[in-house]
Amino acid sequence: MTGPSGPPAAAPEGTPSAILHRVAAFDTPLLRFTLDGRPMQARQGESVLAAILCHAGHLRRHECSGEPRAGFCLMGACQDCWVWFGPGERGRACTTPVADGMQVSTSPDPPA
Ligand code: FES
Repeated sequence: MTGPSGPPAAAPEGTPSAILHRVAAFDTPLLRFTLDGRPMQARQGESVLAAILCHAGHLRRHECSGEPRAGFCLMGACQDCWVWFGPGERGRACTTPVADGMQVSTSPDPPA
């Protein structure tokens, strides 16, 4: 599902490789966003990190070791979940609410 050095592959929500699985029904609006150009869905009120981990087994690969990373603190303190929302627009996935139409990249140089 994932390449050795690449970003997480998009998969349908609830796939076995996803780290997070919803345990309660949500009736909040369904939002659409992209991760590295791939379409994904989320529920209003979720963080970008939660939305991504409902589809994938990791957020990104470590810059040096290539090991999968999925955030660490989940509360905005460790900076393990940086993502980009556009050129120069970096933010923490764990403290950024996902928004409809959002374009998220796991790299400062997103694919064209
Ligand atoms: S997971 Fe620690 S800052 Fe986001």
